[in-house]
Amino acid sequence: MNSRNKILITGGAGFIGSHTADALFKLGYKIRILDNLTPPVHNSYWPKYLSKKYELIKGDIREKKDWLKALKGVDCVFHFAAYQDYLPDFSKFFNVNTVGTVLLYELIEAKKLPIKQIIYASSQAVYGEGKYKCGNRIFYPEQRNLRQLKNKEWDYKCPNNRIAEFLLMKEDDLLKPHNSYGMSKAAAEQAVLNLGKRCNVPTVIMRYSIVQGSRQSPFNAYSGALRIFVSQAFNNQDLIVYEDGKQKRDFVNIKDIIKANLLVFKNKKTDFQIFNVGGDKSYKVSDFAKLVLKIVKPCNTLQVLQGKIKLTGEFRVGDTRNAVSDVRKLKKLGWKPKYTPEDSIKDYFSWYKKLTGKKDFSQEAYKRMKALGVVQK
Ligand SMILES: NC(=O)c1ccc[n+]([C@@H]2O[C@H](COP(=O)([O-])OP(=O)(O)OC[C@H]3O[C@@H](n4cnc5c(N)ncnc54)[C@H](O)[C@@H]3O)[C@@H](O)[C@H]2O)c1
Repeated sequence: MNSRNKILITGGAGFIGSHTADALFKLGYKIRILDNLTPPVHNSYWPKYLSKKYELIKGDIREKKDWLKALKGVDCVFHFAAYQDYLPDFSKFFNVNTVGTVLLYELIEAKKLPIKQIIYASSQAVYGEGKYKCGNRIFYPEQRNLRQLKNKEWDYKCPNNRIAEFLLMKEDDLLKPHNSYGMSKAAAEQAVLNLGKRCNVPTVIMRYSIVQGSRQSPFNAYSGALRIFVSQAFNNQDLIVYEDGKQKRDFVNIKDIIKANLLVFKNKKTDFQIFNVGGDKSYKVSDFAKLVLKIVKPCNTLQVLQGKIKLTGEFRVGDTRNAVSDVRKLKKLGWKPKYTPEDSIKDYFSWYKKLTGKKDFSQEAYKRMKALGVVQK
């Protein structure tokens, strides 16, 4: 591939897309971005962190004409554009994430477009609640129902009433997503693998865990432990942790994500493969919140940090109890996560301080999620 090759990055105005654009640009590729600057991620203008050298197309992946304009003359597509979080507009997840993605392949087939590779951004959310063990029995539990959550029965139990052992999520595990985001991404995964083969477009699926770092939109405080906790701590508010704070997660730094994206790019070994991309270490959410409290200083420098971890007994409908990925498959290709959650908090905080001043976007999102029944007690 020579320096004149053009790469299309959908969702390239966002967090992972813009960092991927910068890395590819440094390697000599021309960058075209297709993004509809969706609120609340954006305020309808192109973010300042995007290089002036990128070609920017404001358009929607649900629109054929926007895809066609964006696909003209490109070799590869990094497909990041997606609708995310936990709001109850169920159909929008499928319209954007599944139908919008299928449209890409439909147009490649119809117009015989010479696309050489598609890298599809999927998510750990496709596993749903994942896999557990009681003695020798392995099982994939159903989502926890409202009665269980309201009774604070957070964990899955074995018949002997012990807490079942959570097992790391592996690429060939059964997929049992239960929230609209996870279901729409799992359906899109099926589509990109099968349609990729049919259209003869090598496609690779990246199943990211929770990705952290600068440029993660602070305006969209509907999900993302880092941006929500940092916003709360910076504004000297308590850090609201759902359930009992003992739910497990793995967090991965954006720089490690970019290394993974570049590793699979134009790599024939990855054709039609699925890779987990995670932090390779399990954290309790309350421990992650403690790290944020250690690093973040309040916006009013005369104040001492008063915020503390607050377990309100609330939960998010559609949340998973535990989600930690097994990353051995990607490690076999030579990738290894290097950065820690502390690094991510420091990176994000130094970027956030300069950007948003004193407004705490998390309060607004929290209130709206409560009003819509997404956050309950
Ligand atoms: N950030 C994470 O922790 C994480 C974890 C797992 C998977 N992912 C996936 O990675 C991808 C990138 O996520 P991100 O964190 O950079 O999100 P982001 O919100 O920062 O970026 C997504 C971009 O997509 C754009 N977009 C949304 N709907 C669109 C549409 N209909 N048409 C065109 N553009 C549209 C948005 O304007 C935004 O710029 C997504 O597919 C997401 O599902 C992210």
